[in-house]
Amino acid sequence: MPVAEAGPRTGASSDLPDPAVVRALGAACGLDLEAFRPAHVTRTIDRAVERLGLRGPGALAPAVAADARLRARFRRAVAVSTSGMWRDPQQFDLLDRLIGADHADRRPPRVWSVGASDGSELCSLALLLEGLGRLDGAVLLGSDLLPENVALARERCRERCRERLTPAQLSTLRFEERDVVRSAPTGSWDVVLCRNVLIHLAPDAKRAMLDHVTGAVAPGGLLLLGRSERLPRDERRGLADAGQNAYRRCA
Ligand SMILES: C[S@@+](CC[C@H](N)C(=O)[O-])C[C@H]1O[C@@H](n2cnc3c(N)ncnc32)[C@H](O)[C@@H]1O
Repeated sequence: MPVAEAGPRTGASSDLPDPAVVRALGAACGLDLEAFRPAHVTRTIDRAVERLGLRGPGALAPAVAADARLRARFRRAVAVSTSGMWRDPQQFDLLDRLIGADHADRRPPRVWSVGASDGSELCSLALLLEGLGRLDGAVLLGSDLLPENVALARERCRERCRERLTPAQLSTLRFEERDVVRSAPTGSWDVVLCRNVLIHLAPDAKRAMLDHVTGAVAPGGLLLLGRSERLPRDERRGLADAGQNAYRRCA
């Protein structure tokens, strides 16, 4: 398994749902549920069944197919769309030190936020770069599986940053819909944030995403994982420790 984790605990139910039920539910909600950790999918299904008072998991797919609000809620629960400005602030302190110390390279950085959710992470990073005088000319891209998250991120970033950033600086923040299990954006990135995404994925999906994420880190660039995520020693892929949950590719 490529990423050691202290992920969320499994809920009360230990039985994995019938694969046919999972496939039907995946088709109803438009997500590949097999890409997510089975225990997480089970728990999400159990919670929805209980909340809706359904007779069992088999009844969830028709309910999700028939109700757009329920579908939206279920998709966000499966994809775990929780985020927040300056989430895990000590990680931003670390980035502040690491990016601030890169005196040799004053090029505007290219930053990729994987699993950008509502854009809070990329907004925080934009504000951090602005504080360091490194935002002008930078490229900041947030990718997320859910188009609804991408729409939310565009809106929230404008609201949150417009008092601190100029219109030109704001326009450096871009968001796109992308399944990072399947692909990465072109080019290499000086800072890659992949926090709290891998811990929810099934092993094959996790491995594929990690290939894309690590392959996108530029020489000398940084990768930051979530607070409970680590790259095991035998899976470093050319990245060396650069602090807690942070890794740097040799220049
Ligand atoms: C828990 S949030 C993490 C948000 C942010 N990185 C943070 O730490 O605050 C996980 C995000 O990853 C997205 N996600 C899940 N699977 C993905 C995939 N295969 N490709 C891109 N984004 C994905 C979800 O839609 C969700 O917005």
